[in-house]
Amino acid sequence: MEVIVRNTSSDAASLTAAIVAKALSARPNLVLGLATGRTMEAVYNLLAELYENEGLDFSLATAFNLDEYVGLSPDDPRSYRFYMDKYLFSRVNIDVRNTHLPNGMAEDLEEECRRYEQEIEVRNGIDFQLLGVGKTGHIGFNEPLSAMRSRTRVKALTPETIVQNAALVGGPGRMPHRAITMGVGTILECKRCVLLATGIDKADVIARAVEGPITSMISATALQLHPKCTVIVDEAAASGLEHQDYYRWVFENEPEWQVYQ
Ligand code: GLP
Repeated sequence: MEVIVRNTSSDAASLTAAIVAKALSARPNLVLGLATGRTMEAVYNLLAELYENEGLDFSLATAFNLDEYVGLSPDDPRSYRFYMDKYLFSRVNIDVRNTHLPNGMAEDLEEECRRYEQEIEVRNGIDFQLLGVGKTGHIGFNEPLSAMRSRTRVKALTPETIVQNAALVGGPGRMPHRAITMGVGTILECKRCVLLATGIDKADVIARAVEGPITSMISATALQLHPKCTVIVDEAAASGLEHQDYYRWVFENEPEWQVYQ
């Protein structure tokens, strides 16, 4: 794992977008794993700008999102399909047929989870996975006690996550209580991943995820097992890290993120 501390949240988002853009330019048919949440909005804005101003080409790329709420249709503004269309897909030249999210409206949810795993497998897996982290330590919606080898499945959200994400859907009463999410095992199979976290609210979970023991109580700790993982944080999110000086020294003197490309 490499940890990169940037001064501000916008510096952290810029570096994240630059790394995605570099990976996509190097491999136009990249299979991208995508995340949602407030943190990613800045990254998608920057990617849309890179498409607009510098012709960053998404036409051959494929996207798989980490998760989708159960019971929401794609045109429901609370759904992650709606979010992705709004912040990224409608703003770049990705072929909408190559954009995938689990179907939270599927009649047979278990079958839908199997189908989603197969879709990923058919494309030889995810090349580049973008990740955020929830306050409970979830990646995707892998809430505490998610098995390290879990696959795409339905997961109940914790009360804390329901509160955390309620602001995005118009209040706790409008929050779904379940989601389909890629499993921790699914995520760990990606070839390379970048986790972005910004703001003081994430300081505690970042300290645990990066420097704490690996535990299914905090799914993000599983990333310590991934051979090509970069964690990008701003100063606020980095403030609980004990070994910040070391991370800064590596980034300034012997950066690894380019080697990971
Ligand atoms: C949701 C998503 C996660 C994301 C998290 C972070 O819960 N399922 O994939 O990492 O939001 O949200 P935010 O960026 O709003 O803090």
